[in-house]
Amino acid sequence: GSRLHQSVYLAAPSIDIDWSKYATNVSTIHHHLKKIQDHYAGWINFPPQNYEDVLTSIQRLAEEIKSNAEVLVVIGVGGSFLGAKAIQEALSPYFGVLKNGVQVVYAGQNLSGAYIQHLLNSIGDKEIYLNIISKSGTTMEPSLAFRVFRQYMEQRYGSKSKQRIIVTTDGKKGVLKEIAEYAGYRQFVIPSNIGGRYSVFTPVGLIPIAAAGIDIFQFIEGAKDAAVLLNVDNIERNDAYRYAVIRNELYKRGYYVELLASFEPSLALFHEWWKQLFGESEGKNKKGIFPSAVTYSTDLHSIGQYIQEGSPILFETFLHFKEIQDDYPIPFDSRNDDLLNELSTYSFNGINRIAKEGSILAHVEGGVPVIQLELKKLDAHHMGYLMYFFMKACVMSSFLLDVNPFNQPGVDIYKNKMNALLKRR
Ligand code: PA5
Repeated sequence: GSRLHQSVYLAAPSIDIDWSKYATNVSTIHHHLKKIQDHYAGWINFPPQNYEDVLTSIQRLAEEIKSNAEVLVVIGVGGSFLGAKAIQEALSPYFGVLKNGVQVVYAGQNLSGAYIQHLLNSIGDKEIYLNIISKSGTTMEPSLAFRVFRQYMEQRYGSKSKQRIIVTTDGKKGVLKEIAEYAGYRQFVIPSNIGGRYSVFTPVGLIPIAAAGIDIFQFIEGAKDAAVLLNVDNIERNDAYRYAVIRNELYKRGYYVELLASFEPSLALFHEWWKQLFGESEGKNKKGIFPSAVTYSTDLHSIGQYIQEGSPILFETFLHFKEIQDDYPIPFDSRNDDLLNELSTYSFNGINRIAKEGSILAHVEGGVPVIQLELKKLDAHHMGYLMYFFMKACVMSSFLLDVNPFNQPGVDIYKNKMNALLKRR
């Protein structure tokens, strides 16, 4: 194989951290993770053997979808859709679809009737495939959307609908698994030791990503490199662990909110994935950093004011991609009546980079601790690395905070209340 390729570089904020104080704890957690991976964190030692077979069968399915459909409707919520949508949006053109892929749209991530109606309207007579993704098989939002779309598929495609419905669920149990079995839908398995928000490297993320025309082999290569390079039991040489320690240290000093900051609007859904990952993993037992996000420069003109001069509870993590594939020049204009000719030596991305440097200087001056994560390129490989990086950092950070990163007991409380109101058990 090719050489391992470190993709994320971390620059720490200028605060004093006594790293030695954390060394033992980090090392204990590092070894604990290895012990529990078979039960809770099947992605830690990634990928499992024979993963090529999984990737090949997903790639083949994506080719089939492309030859038979213009749209893939993906049904899922939380960890069962955010990762796929994050990657799809990060790596697809604005206002369009990659030429290698189909349009991927999502349902079952909300309970809006208007959304379902408008989605059906927008599909019109376009040929579609359906991918329902639910590990438990019982989550209300995707289950209801699946009921609608299953009927729609049956009415539209009759007995051939079964060829167009793909089920991604648990390998052994659940209502969805049972439906898939007797209806004869094709199934892809979510490993039992991988939880929703950690499942982007399984068929949960990979089917929609491949259908969108993104290279899943490169995406997985990135995760694979990260799995090796971030498997080092040494804080100073492991940026995922350094990031976790820095967050913890900031939290202890009263910085309760982390803002993930990007300068490329296509990363907005990636922010949502990251918010779920950290929020659902760490926010329990009355503890945890509140994960929030900003897309600059847009948000410099909105909550930028608060960040600069509001309550001193925020720290920022800037994501910076050195190479973005497309760019646009600032045109020269001989009239120069708008006085912008001095900027015409730059491109838009060039000015965007300077906006990043300027906002870091300003926010640091305003007392906001700034972490910087730098990546060479916005592509599938780097995104795979980055997602693994955050997953590894998140479990380390949660255990440092003494909370369990793999459960979400609080989410059930709203479900129970809602079901009681609906008179369901
Ligand atoms: O991270 C999680 O475990 C959750 O966000 C789940 O992904 C989400 O609730 C969807 O669950 P399911 O895939 O069982 O429908």
